[in-house]
Amino acid sequence: MQIIIYNQKGGVGKSMIATQLALSFDTTIVELDPYGMLSDTLGKDIVYKVGLNENVPNIKEGDVIYDFGGFDDLRLDEVSKNADLIIIPFNPTINSLGTTLKSYKRVKEQNVPILFVVNAVLNDKDVEESINFIKENTQDDIEYFVIPHTRALQTVENEGVSIIEFANTSGLRKHTYRKISATMKDLVKTIEEYL
Ligand SMILES: Nc1ncnc2c1ncn2[C@@H]1O[C@H](COP(=O)(O)OP(=O)(O)O)[C@@H](O)[C@H]1O
Ligand SMILES: [Mg+2]
Repeated sequence: MQIIIYNQKGGVGKSMIATQLALSFDTTIVELDPYGMLSDTLGKDIVYKVGLNENVPNIKEGDVIYDFGGFDDLRLDEVSKNADLIIIPFNPTINSLGTTLKSYKRVKEQNVPILFVVNAVLNDKDVEESINFIKENTQDDIEYFVIPHTRALQTVENEGVSIIEFANTSGLRKHTYRKISATMKDLVKTIEEYL
C-alpha cells in the first residue's frame, strides 16, 4: 500500500495526516519535505528522511506514506508509479484554493485515484464553497473527506501518537477526543476502499 500526501501549499495538514495514517496503518513515512521534522516526534524507525537532492528509494512492495513539502516537487512523478492513492489536503480558505487547484492539476497527470481532504474546517459553508470552486474550475467530479478544526490534533501531533489510541485512554480525555477519533477512523475506512 502506497499513499502520497501532496499539496504545494504549506500548513494544510499534510504531515498531520501522514502521521495519523502511518500510525493507523503501521507504515513507514518517507519524508520528502526538506524542512520536515517528523523523525523528531515519531522516531527514525518510522520516518525515513530523503534530502532535497537525494533520490527517492525505489519501493515496489511494502507499505509507505510519502509526505511532501509545500512546493512543486518533481519527485511526485517518480513515486506516483507505485501509488494507490494521492491525498490532497487543503484548508477551505481563499488563500489556499489557488495553490490547491494548481496542485490538483499536477496530481491529475499521474493517473492515480485522488482524495481531497478539506482540513481544519470551521464551518460547513466553507466546505461547500471550496468544493464548488474546485468543481467549477475543473469540471471534475471530485471525492473529498472533511476533518474539522480541533486542538486535539495539535496535541497528539506534539506527542507523535495516534488520535485513535489517545482517545481510548481513560478519563476526561476520552470524551474530548471521541469525536475526532471517530472522524479519523472514518478516514481510514474511506482510504481502505482505494487499496
Ligand atoms: N484539523 C486540524 N485542526 C487543527 N489544527 C490542525 C489540523 N490539521 C493540522 N493542524 C495544525 O496545522 C499546522 C500545520 O499542519 P501540518 O500537518 O504541519 O501541515 P503541512 O505538512 O501541510 O505543512 C500544524 O500545527 C497542525 O497541528
Ligand atoms: Mg509538512
